[in-house]
Amino acid sequence: MKPDIQDLISRAIDARQNAVAPFSNFKVGAALLSKDSRIYTGCNIENASYGLGMCAERVALWKAVSEGSREFVRIAIVTEADVLTTPCGACRQLLWEYCGDIALHLHSVKGLNQEYRLSELLPHPFDKRSLM
Ligand code: THU
Repeated sequence: MKPDIQDLISRAIDARQNAVAPFSNFKVGAALLSKDSRIYTGCNIENASYGLGMCAERVALWKAVSEGSREFVRIAIVTEADVLTTPCGACRQLLWEYCGDIALHLHSVKGLNQEYRLSELLPHPFDKRSLM
């Protein structure tokens, strides 16, 4: 694995430690790399009103966008699951709209790894081109 990808996964592993997941007990960490080599991390944050919880990917994405980043290269997503975790539908849509066809590096601390392009997980997307 390329060192920069391993580093991104390490950052997502660290971010996962901050996950607040008392309802699902499913902790997720994410690390998003911008074109100018900045890394934005996120973890999932749950709420007693379940629908108000937020995925790790979106926390990382909103941190990046709110700090002015607009171009992205790859995202690492880390869980402890036996089956690798792909982003939920809402996160796929938002990652597509803000990041385009980035690389996704899925990792489980149990030792599983898989890489996808976002277009593999979200074929035929709805985006601004659909509105023209
Ligand atoms: N979750 C994420 O943070 N990212 C994913 O890719 C899948 C799901 C969170 C949402 C919720 O807090 C918990 O995992 C269980 O669905």
